[in-house]
Amino acid sequence: MDVRVLFTLLLMLFSAVPQMATKSSAQVCDPGLIFSEEEKMCCEMCSPGTRLISGCRRDVTCHPCGNSEYQKEYNREKSCVQRNYCDGNVGFKTVFSGSATENSKCECMEGLHCEQASCELCRKHTECPVGYGVKENGTSKTDTVCEPCPKGYFSNVLSSTEPCLKWTECSNVQVNGNASSDNICGGNNAAIIAVICILCLLIVSVVVLYHFKGRIASICKQQNKPHQPRLIPVTEPEPKTPMEETFSEEGQIVMQETGKEHHMPEEDSHCV
Ligand SMILES: *[C@@H]1O[C@H](CO)[C@@H](O)[C@H](O)[C@H]1NC(C)=O
Ligand SMILES: *[C@@H]1O[C@H](CO)[C@@H](O)[C@H](O)[C@H]1NC(C)=O
Repeated sequence: MDVRVLFTLLLMLFSAVPQMATKSSAQVCDPGLIFSEEEKMCCEMCSPGTRLISGCRRDVTCHPCGNSEYQKEYNREKSCVQRNYCDGNVGFKTVFSGSATENSKCECMEGLHCEQASCELCRKHTECPVGYGVKENGTSKTDTVCEPCPKGYFSNVLSSTEPCLKWTECSNVQVNGNASSDNICGGNNAAIIAVICILCLLIVSVVVLYHFKGRIASICKQQNKPHQPRLIPVTEPEPKTPMEETFSEEGQIVMQETGKEHHMPEEDSHCV
């Protein structure tokens, strides 16, 4: 064998041994320490919410994460992790703005839901078509659940919130409802009859009143007409002699007075 080949083989063997030794020691750091490739030894860690600047053991230097950054674990990372940005332009809203140790939390806005479990995209809730109603409203994580309207129910709108509605109850159905349209009620007979009755009563009472008023007027005319001529025949034959004139004047007065007394109550009772 060549001496040079033997030498290189020996060199490889010697150089491999310390590497193997250090690699095995990397996996057995004391609790709270971590093997540092840079330092080639077990080193202290930075606490959550901070990042490594430099150092290994007592000289280890850590700085807090910046705004909009976080670090959840004990670490020897040179930088913190950027928190998620909840982009309103693509349908996200912020439900938790996060902290130095926790990522922010985004959710899909009202009316939208995550397309996948990872929630990288928000999608509009499905609208249930006519004839279908909403069985379950969509949430930020789930889509709308639609159902065909069962018998007795209908939905005549494309909607992501409206459930199937009950058919209107008619006493007199004109057109039967189906899944996409309501019952159409016929005219309500009782109401129409009631209206006609009221109208008839009104007309009858107006006619009766008109006739009754006419009759009262004619009765009053009949009573008023003989009232004056009755006195004239009484006054005319009286004046014959001067003696009788004075008597007749007295008699006329008496007659007029008795006439007034006799007719006044009748006039008051019917013809005013
Ligand atoms: C869905 O939401 C609407 C209001 O947005 C509500 O009126 C309806 O009752 C809800 N439906 C269900 C099934 O919870
Ligand atoms: C439901 O009823 C409406 C009105 O009567 C009608 O126009 C429609 O075609 C019906 N739909 C079905 C699916 O029967």
